Amino acid sequence: MIGRKLECIDAGSEYCPCFLAEANECITCSHLQGREFCDCNWRGVCIYQEYVWAGNRKKEVRSSYPATVMEKRDISQNTVVFRLKVTKTLARQLDSPGAYVFMRDKEKPSFFDVPMSVMAVDVAKGEIQVALQVQGAKTKALAEPEKGIVVRGPYWNGILGQRYLKGVKNGNCLVIARGIGQAPAAKVVAYLIRGGNKVRVIVDPGKVGAVFIGDLIKDLPCEVEELDLNSRQGIKVVNRYLKNENHELVFSGGSDKQHLHIIKEIDKLAQKPFIVVTNNNEICCGEGICGSCSTRIDSGVRVKACKVQLDVRRVIERRILNG
Ligand code: FES
Repeated sequence: MIGRKLECIDAGSEYCPCFLAEANECITCSHLQGREFCDCNWRGVCIYQEYVWAGNRKKEVRSSYPATVMEKRDISQNTVVFRLKVTKTLARQLDSPGAYVFMRDKEKPSFFDVPMSVMAVDVAKGEIQVALQVQGAKTKALAEPEKGIVVRGPYWNGILGQRYLKGVKNGNCLVIARGIGQAPAAKVVAYLIRGGNKVRVIVDPGKVGAVFIGDLIKDLPCEVEELDLNSRQGIKVVNRYLKNENHELVFSGGSDKQHLHIIKEIDKLAQKPFIVVTNNNEICCGEGICGSCSTRIDSGVRVKACKVQLDVRRVIERRILNG
């Protein structure tokens, strides 16, 4: 990783510098990669200076909090939506597209932690909403918590291409969300509308079997259409919108295969919109430590996808096309 200029999602946050700085593995700061001179592209407060002022140590680490389950809604056979009471500070920190938390049943050990996108936040009440699709041991335990839930956060790298998402204003945007990919899409829609953008939302129930973000976006000024993105007709409609509507930004919430299809369609367009997608890497610790999210970028360098804002196109094409 040395010598590369990568964008760490945590740079400049209250959790920076982190464990990686202590191990000379900082994603952004060349000093904290063990080099003699400054060679970073970070424009915020100097990470090395923060490290020295903290006594040559990392800053505080993210905490785990007990979260009260205010409401649990069964969306379909395999999907549950939780409304959770957390601290107001945590709710505020999570009020951003791409935010997620680790959750587990309070009775289970920490290796049951599973990352979940935050789909709605009520900062005043200190509440968040998350959708959970039951798939394995961790999510099964979480869907039926015996004595409450523990939440760890905030984390922010649930979406790749956040720079574009935060930069586009008064534009024309298309949001495509399938299955559990609807969860991060809800905050994306709200964020784009806040930026004065015109937003069309295409939503496919997918394996969840239901559209569960309807209540969150029904009062927003956007056009919502339900389609089966696995059908010829559904694909045709998406392709038509991409071709005819001159988008500044397209968001894809779903599988890497879905992302790749959209990238390929965008490649056929004369005016290419920015692409923003859900981060589908396997995230386990969220801190850049365990390596489960490691992914290769061009030239074969391995980076931690839980921390780095990766180039959407390169990473998706590399992962799908090279297997
Ligand atoms: S999830 Fe552990 S290093 Fe990224």
